[in-house]
Order: sequence, then structure tokens, then C-alpha cells
Amino acid sequence: MRKFLIGLIVGLIAFPLMAVAFLLSGYAPVGVTDHPLPLERYIAAEVLEKGIERRAPTRELSSFSAAQIAAGAKSYHEVCGGCHGLLGEANNFPEPKMYPPPPKLLTPDGYVTDDPVGATFWTIKNGIRMTGMPSFGGVLQDDQMWQIAALLASADKLPSDVTDVLKQPVFPPASPSASEKAGSAPGAKPEGQATPKH
Ligand code: HEC
Repeated sequence: MRKFLIGLIVGLIAFPLMAVAFLLSGYAPVGVTDHPLPLERYIAAEVLEKGIERRAPTRELSSFSAAQIAAGAKSYHEVCGGCHGLLGEANNFPEPKMYPPPPKLLTPDGYVTDDPVGATFWTIKNGIRMTGMPSFGGVLQDDQMWQIAALLASADKLPSDVTDVLKQPVFPPASPSASEKAGSAPGAKPEGQATPKH
């Protein structure tokens, strides 16, 4: 019994010490392409889901009109598509890697169609801590964020006028006349050419 208790106490102290020693050893994964720690993905996903469930506002998908969803597609195309992907050919652009990676929200693997619209609205507005998902609270109006959330909630049943918008390339090649006007080669003058139009 005594031996067991000593073992238990040593274990209770030794395990956290070893974990801290590992984290500070310099061998812990820190790069985007490193392997995740055991349970890292699971713990992060559970904490996130519970946190959003508690905070998200509620609103029915059926309360959004087709025009609102179409407007959501335009905003998504401008603001989100570069990370979360678009439809078909429009996805052919080089993207920087992230960990965790941004899910492809318009393809079945990344659909958030089962999530409440309010949960997606909350995510857009507040972002996700310690990931590449920014908070758009100070960037977009609430209306715009609801429209994008409604678009994503209906991603598996979009009409063709909406899918057409989402098939446009995100970074259209600069037209020669535009770069002549700017008086320089494409890419040399980011201002003016690359400013997103809101
Ligand atoms: C700079 C890249 C980037 C941009 C821009 C960005 N996101 Fe994200 N987003 C991420 C990353 C990375 C994640 C994954 C976070 C995670 O796994 O916890 C994410 C996660 C999400 C999720 C959660 C997905 C899920 O499966 O639960 C939603 C919803 C989302 N983003 C919507 C959007 C919308 C809508 C926009 C545009 C308004 C947007 N994001 C813009 C990088 C981005």
C-alpha cells in the first residue's frame, strides 16, 4: 500500500514535469507542417465546439431570402475564398499552408451545412483563437456576416446564379491596360491594383 502511494505521488508529479520538460525541450511541434501532439486536434475541436455552442446567437436558415444568400456569395468570394476555397477552376491558385488548415467550406469535406447558422455567424464575427481564422467583427457589418453564414449553411444546394459567382477566380490576372495605367509591371504597385472593393 505504501509503495503504491509513493508510486502514485511520484507519477502524479513526474508526469506533468515530463510534459513541461518536453514542451520546453525544443522538440515540441511548432511549425505548420509538424505533426500534431497526441489529442491536440480532439481537445481543440471539443473546446471550440462547446465555446461556440454557448455563445452563438440563433436564427433560422429559412429567414434568409435568395437575394441575401446571393449577396453572401459576393462577400464570401471577396473575403473568404482565398483561404476557404471556391468552386472548380477558381481554386487553382497557390496557397500558403496553415495549421490547422482552413476547411474547404464549399466542398462536401468542409461543409458546415450541419452547423446552426448562428454558430457560423459567431465564428466569422469572432474568429478562432490560435488559428489562421481572423475575426471579421470590425471589418464586415453584421448583415454581411449573417448573409455569408446563410450561404455556407446552404452550400450543398446553391442555385446556379450563386455558384457562377463562386466559380470566378479570386486573383484575376491584372489586365495589361490596368498595369499600363498604373505605370508599372503587374505586382510592382500593390496599391490601387490589389485594393479589395467593398
Ligand atoms: C487567412 C485565412 C482565413 C480567412 C481569410 C478566413 N478564414 Fe475561416 N478559417 C481559417 C482557418 C485556418 C480555420 C480553421 C480553424 C480551426 O481549425 O479551428 C477557419 C475556420 C473557419 C470556420 C469553422 C469551420 C468548421 O469546420 O467549423 C468557418 C465557418 C470559417 N472559417 C468561415 C470563414 C468565413 C465566412 C470567412 C470570410 C468572412 C473566413 N472564414 C475567412 C482561415 C481563414
